[in-house]
Amino acid sequence: MTVASPSRLYSDLDVRAELDVPLGPQTWFGIGGRADLLVHPRSVDALATLARRCRRDGIPLRVLGSGANLLVDDEGVDGVVVKLDEGPFQGVDFNLEGRVERMRVHGGASMERLVQACARQGLRGIEPMSGIPASLGGAIRMNAGGKFGAIGDAVDAVAIVGLDGELRVHPRDEIRFGYRETSLPEGTVVWASLRVEPDDPVACRNRVKEIFAYKKSTQPMSASSAGCMFRNPTMPDGRRESAGRLIDLAGLKGAREGGAFVSTEHGNFLAVDKGAATDDVRRLVERIQAEVAAKHGVELETEVVFWRRGDEA
Ligand code: EPU
Repeated sequence: MTVASPSRLYSDLDVRAELDVPLGPQTWFGIGGRADLLVHPRSVDALATLARRCRRDGIPLRVLGSGANLLVDDEGVDGVVVKLDEGPFQGVDFNLEGRVERMRVHGGASMERLVQACARQGLRGIEPMSGIPASLGGAIRMNAGGKFGAIGDAVDAVAIVGLDGELRVHPRDEIRFGYRETSLPEGTVVWASLRVEPDDPVACRNRVKEIFAYKKSTQPMSASSAGCMFRNPTMPDGRRESAGRLIDLAGLKGAREGGAFVSTEHGNFLAVDKGAATDDVRRLVERIQAEVAAKHGVELETEVVFWRRGDEA
């Protein structure tokens, strides 16, 4: 929906706002259309009030993390897009309540920087996130991770501004962390407290390096891509199978639709040429789903999130 006189949503709030902003450059794919309204809140209160107003007026509110797992439609997105890149939503408070094993990470903080900072300080527990591009909020939402663990393993509590604009703190024992999903309610993650353990900084740095090297040896780290496109499916015998392997076995490595193609290194990585359209990616996704279903009898579900005008946020 196009928002009539959008400034009424934010003009009295402590935010920075931009109209008609290209979103492609803010995503890892680097393609897609524009946001009608991009808002950068400078306080939790401003975010909460904005969320309340969007709910009141039936305006979709979407949160843009680091854009690492996101594809924006060529026609762009309507409503409000929020980005937590202002001071209060960045960074990490180490030594929470004077305890070295506790820290609070703000919603817009970069996971890559967090991994590096923890390694430098000799704090163990976050290194499974090495080489996973994400903001804290995006990582929590997706329970991001891989072979070496997931962010949920380290979570103590998560604070969310809900769609109703209320700030709630969800303790760990109330959250279910599953495979690339959580039971957290919708809304914007504003911080999470994480648990780490003091360890030898050299050992910490080495673990980060090893995990990163493993990823580099098995995945294309440089292409314009959003990492794995599909969730690993559960096969009829209950085993979780690598979507990349299924795509590879279906002979689809290197397959192409317009400017979008399947990586020749790892079947679950789709990448794009400069100038590609989101529609190219969508057609390639549909073709892969159809061919994998025909060959292996399983439906692949996308892990990457698609944003489209008119969709429920
Ligand atoms: N394989 C192939 N061909 C391929 C890809 C993989 O034969 O094209 C084989 C590999 O040789 C290996 C097996 O499949 O024997 C599993 O491959 P890999 O270790 O790469 O793991 P994956 O299951 O394909 C998952 C995550 C990745 C994560 C890796 C490593 C999903 C959808 N993918 O991939 O996460 O990096 O494990 O921990 O859960 C992401 O979430 O964006 C992502 C890339």
